[in-house]
Amino acid sequence: MTQETILITGGCRSGKSRQALTLARDFPGRKLYLATAEPLDEEMKERIRRHQSERDDEWTTVEEPVRVAEVLQREGRSEGVIVVDCLTLWISNLLRNDLAPEAVLERVRTLAAAGRTASALIVITNEVGAGIVPENELARKFRDLAGEANQILASRFDRVVHMVSGIPVFLKGGGEPAGPSPQETPRPHEFPPAHKQGVYEAIYRRRDMRHFTRTPIDPEVLGRILDAAHHAGSVGFMQPWNFLVIDDAEIKRKVARNFKKANETAARKFRGDRQELYRSLKLEGIEQSPINLCVTCDRSRAGPHVLGRDTVPETDLFSTCCAVQNLWLAARAEGLAVGWVSILSPEQLKKDLGVPEHVEPVAYLCLGHTESFDPKPLLESRGWAARLPLDRLIFYNRWNGEAENFTVQLPRAKPES
Ligand SMILES: Cc1cc2nc3c(=O)[nH]c(=O)nc-3n(C[C@H](O)[C@H](O)[C@H](O)COP(=O)(O)O)c2cc1C
Repeated sequence: MTQETILITGGCRSGKSRQALTLARDFPGRKLYLATAEPLDEEMKERIRRHQSERDDEWTTVEEPVRVAEVLQREGRSEGVIVVDCLTLWISNLLRNDLAPEAVLERVRTLAAAGRTASALIVITNEVGAGIVPENELARKFRDLAGEANQILASRFDRVVHMVSGIPVFLKGGGEPAGPSPQETPRPHEFPPAHKQGVYEAIYRRRDMRHFTRTPIDPEVLGRILDAAHHAGSVGFMQPWNFLVIDDAEIKRKVARNFKKANETAARKFRGDRQELYRSLKLEGIEQSPINLCVTCDRSRAGPHVLGRDTVPETDLFSTCCAVQNLWLAARAEGLAVGWVSILSPEQLKKDLGVPEHVEPVAYLCLGHTESFDPKPLLESRGWAARLPLDRLIFYNRWNGEAENFTVQLPRAKPES
């Protein structure tokens, strides 16, 4: 598995090493600290001691002032994380070894390529070029090389973080939009930031998709997605769902015919421009997608009395929707597109799929790979509907109630619409 690559840049004592250790917590497995500093004098020895004291016992330190890419190639085969501290000292070591600038940059490119291993790689560097022009030629050469090396890694690495006065500014690849700043103690039971970010990304980047490529679905991936669906909450733990996996072209054709008829009836409900816009929308991908899935709800599964369902009989249907949402999010994380088709006659669908009387089809889904995921809902980008402002949907204590003591703080920025 290729792991993430992260570049942490910033000025001296801006909190880069601490940030590297914070980010490294998110990666399971072995933790290796590759130090490029050479303890040539007392001051450097003291700096190294200070950095070492920040790391706990789970870290192994390797000191390598020159052959950094080689160490990465050797050590990067096992799962874990490697922190290289730091790029600029390594460059200075290479210059002291009389390497020409182009040869130094070649080593940097090799490092960037070597970073694509089983281990995650965090490289710490310095922003050295912001001050006045250095007086001597070697320092100017070093400054220029450090700038170019930073650019090489920043363009190739997944994430880039700039440390300013101890505060991480996430320049590339996102950061911790919903997480605590690294100075704060994680809350009990909280996921590590990268895991949390993954959950939010699946939510914000999920889309209802109707365009599919012909690429088949890996049965193992589908298995994981269905298992995620099966782990949804359900009233009385009744797990009322079934998953009908449909790859038969004739059945898909029948369902597509069902859609066509229902869609024509639906279109006629709108008038003028609205009807024209409706008719221009693609609202299904039944025959294009390699797999269709019908998620059903067996309302009799746990007998007539289900714990929790007595007062609201539809809770079994709600439970099935929870399973569909799990499926939708897991599919997005797996890179698979899902489109929900509800413009169907349920009676006809039941007939075509041989679904028994007491079982309700809840969701008819199209699954497959896609060229690209839309950043916004199609109905939003095509001007059919807009996302409602969340703050107007939140009431306090009673319908339409205003905040008194407690006010929800909504996030300022999200990755997608
Ligand atoms: C219960 C349900 C039924 C839906 N039915 C259809 C449908 O028949 N055709 C369609 O194109 N989209 C359908 N959608 C997708 C919605 O249009 C879509 O979720 C919405 O526009 C927001 O876009 P997003 O899912 O990409 O965020 C359905 C979604 C849900 C939750």
